[in-house]
Amino acid sequence: MLTCDTLIRGAAVYDGSGGQPEVLDVALRGHRIVAIGSALNLRARNVIEAEGLALAPGFIDTHTHDDLIVLQAPEMTPKISQGVTTVIVGNCGISAAPVTLRGELPDPMNLLGTADAFHYPSFSDYAAAIRATEPAVNVAALVGHTALRSNHMDRLDRAAGPAEIEAMKAQLREALDAGALGLSTGLAYLSAYTATTEEVLELAEPLTAAGAVYATHMRSEAAAILDAMQEAFAIGRGRRVAVIVSHLKCAGVDNWGRSDEVLEALHSASALQAVGCDCYPYAASSSTLDLRQVDERVRIVVTWSTPHPEVTGQALAEIAAAWNVPQLEAARRLMPAGAIYHSMSEDDMRRILRDPATMIGSDGLPCDPLPHPRLWGTFPRVLGRYCREQQLFSLSEAVHKMTGLPAQRLGLLDRGLVREGFYADLTLFDPEAITDTATFADPQRPAKGIRGVWVNGALGYTAQGSTAQRAGRFLPRGKTTWMQ
Ligand code: ZN
Ligand code: CU
Repeated sequence: MLTCDTLIRGAAVYDGSGGQPEVLDVALRGHRIVAIGSALNLRARNVIEAEGLALAPGFIDTHTHDDLIVLQAPEMTPKISQGVTTVIVGNCGISAAPVTLRGELPDPMNLLGTADAFHYPSFSDYAAAIRATEPAVNVAALVGHTALRSNHMDRLDRAAGPAEIEAMKAQLREALDAGALGLSTGLAYLSAYTATTEEVLELAEPLTAAGAVYATHMRSEAAAILDAMQEAFAIGRGRRVAVIVSHLKCAGVDNWGRSDEVLEALHSASALQAVGCDCYPYAASSSTLDLRQVDERVRIVVTWSTPHPEVTGQALAEIAAAWNVPQLEAARRLMPAGAIYHSMSEDDMRRILRDPATMIGSDGLPCDPLPHPRLWGTFPRVLGRYCREQQLFSLSEAVHKMTGLPAQRLGLLDRGLVREGFYADLTLFDPEAITDTATFADPQRPAKGIRGVWVNGALGYTAQGSTAQRAGRFLPRGKTTWMQ
């Protein structure tokens, strides 16, 4: 009789393609899935009886800022406890590599960690660190435009000149050669807002030959969102590369209700080029405190403040009242700081979340002392609240948005599907019980309903919590596939 390491028996297999589930046995040997079938007759060292449970490819968190935390806290509990087996780092223009700091850490690179944690002058240094550390989840990385700007520019409040662009481009090319997935920008942040479209277009040149993607936290998610989308699409067309709009949303009270026109713009572009987006399942955003987003109609909660650590968890309105100053003035005094902005409409978020172009990405901020609950809750919340309870989509579609779809679009070779020969990144969960428990008041709580998480064939998490095994790898860019 053939043997395998682990045999998962009788689960409803959601294979990640978006197709109907089937009750099957799945056999793992070494790092891979070696057999799938009904009533497999195999001898196994570990047999998991999984009747009534769902087995899916391990979830891919398409939008993270886990660049440094995967090295500092490689057990990665916030993610593996959700069934996540791969994190995509380097989003929003900020990345841990390639970075050579010339002094202060520019905003918002401080979301990734403190200056002393940045020691990866080249992308291959970073990849080597991941390989040496073996975090609990796999890591694939984008290169941040703001990180490149900070390497080569004396100040970030201007556009890059031709020599600076050449230097950034050389670093991007080197990173792509070392396996980077593509380029990300954070054009909304003041550290990149002054970059022109031409700067990005010129810098993006090496993406074409590499078949790499362009991911963007757009210049605007508010009044000027359609212009910002056109800018992103123009860069994609100009370089014939796929565009991923990061955390697509309609931000600010004045933009509530605009998700229809925003999605229409995305769909009409997809007739001409490869475009997609990611989204987190909450109507509140989180980042560093930005004076431009202070609006008395929006509830803003301060999650950290360097000059005033004592206000963590308080609303900006309360702080301003206590200090007897306008909110804008209070915000100014709190900087640098982090914040959660309750600035979206739930309807818009739901419409974007259920769109077939949308992948799931947490955008969690792992270093925040009071993180937005998306850090621990995103994937179970999509499966529990939005799939099971609100039926925004079927369970197969929900799984596809977090597995097969991102694996294809990002070029993660042999991952994202339950297939013979693919890597054994798998998540076993109870579809009737899966629930996020992280809240805004108490955000660092693991999900309920995750029964087993395998990363490259090794069981990294069970209903009892993390195991001692960490089997995550650095994932270099494979070939991307976009269905239009
Ligand atoms: Zn962002
Ligand atoms: Cu982000």
